[in-house]
Amino acid sequence: MDLKRFENLSLPVIAGIAILFLLNSSCKHDGITADQMAPVAFADVQQVYYGYCTSCHSGGNGGESHLDFTTYEGILRTVSPGNSSNSESYQAMINTFQIMPPNGAVPTNQRTLIRLWIDQGAKPE
Ligand code: HEC
Repeated sequence: MDLKRFENLSLPVIAGIAILFLLNSSCKHDGITADQMAPVAFADVQQVYYGYCTSCHSGGNGGESHLDFTTYEGILRTVSPGNSSNSESYQAMINTFQIMPPNGAVPTNQRTLIRLWIDQGAKPE
């Protein structure tokens, strides 16, 4: 009797796991791909760096790790256009081991903005 119940369950359970697996493997991060989104303006990107990063990373004297996020050129040095998973500064924002900024994370919507901007080609405008 009990075994029979399990048999009836197993098919939907297996199908469910398969669907979850497929969904998961076809999704990138939060599931939004860069080409589905309107172009992100660099001005908005710069605001995130100014809000969360430049207090420590403004280059020159005492800039941590000599990173300078106050200019496009400085940001671009830590970014691989079109490839957020290979972009140091974005990876630092989602790093679970040593997240940046060290005292708390950038809110998800603003991190997504950075990721989209990079994956859209990290343009200066
Ligand atoms: C409160 C100061 C502070 C803030 C704010 C801050 N960082 Fe850092 N960051 C540091 C320090 C300190 C290091 C050097 C850590 C080390 O080398 O161990 C560092 C290192 C880094 C590195 C190099 C990682 C490495 O392994 O050397 C990157 C990339 C980085 N930060 C990106 C960012 C980004 C992007 C932001 C904003 C979202 C940010 N940081 C905000 C202090 C800060």
